[in-house]
Amino acid sequence: MRVGVFVSGYGSNLQALLDAAAAGAPYEVAVVIANIADAPALDRARRAGVPAHVVDHRGRPRQDYEADLVQILREARVDLVCLAGFMRILSPWFVVQFPGRILNIHPALLPAFGGPGMYGLRVHEAVLAAGATQSGCTIHLVDERVDGGPIVAQATVSVLAGDTPATLAARVAEAEHRLYPVVVRAIAEGRLLPGLRAAVLAGG
Ligand code: GAR
Repeated sequence: MRVGVFVSGYGSNLQALLDAAAAGAPYEVAVVIANIADAPALDRARRAGVPAHVVDHRGRPRQDYEADLVQILREARVDLVCLAGFMRILSPWFVVQFPGRILNIHPALLPAFGGPGMYGLRVHEAVLAAGATQSGCTIHLVDERVDGGPIVAQATVSVLAGDTPATLAARVAEAEHRLYPVVVRAIAEGRLLPGLRAAVLAGG
């Protein structure tokens, strides 16, 4: 199975996917696309020998930008698209190009703490402000709703007394790095059909 990964920033989830593939998981990261030219994630792709593209979204119509994304994915013969810290919302047109084949990872237990504006540290600030005792991460299918597609898998982490958004983010990130490769492997092995089955794969 050939995976295309979309990134905007640091790329620790991309790294987890690359590391699992290098360790023998039955998928290949075939291409990495960033919308930010200096995203550190691009260096992770290059170090792993994976083609890395920058497709800048600024100053051009969304449909042109997304048509470029689709062309790169098709040329790389990508079967599955993984959003990994990709901070752009994709249009319904893009989503139907890869029906049931686009995953996103979100740093909270959706459907709570998701939706427009909920990304990065803001998510963890909201979790702490709400007094939640558990958080975690969610992998879901991407559809036309922001953070609203069918849930594929979740992992939970405890919220600890004294947590700050940064300490909670770090604990959630560890769960993300475990969960994303497990889910992609399961899809590659035909054990998990996106959209047809929801599973809680890990806790802690
Ligand atoms: C991850 O925690 C991911 O869940 C989050 O951004 C981080 C990217 O980290 N995504 C969102 O908030 C999307 N709503 P990374 O670049 O180190 O993988």
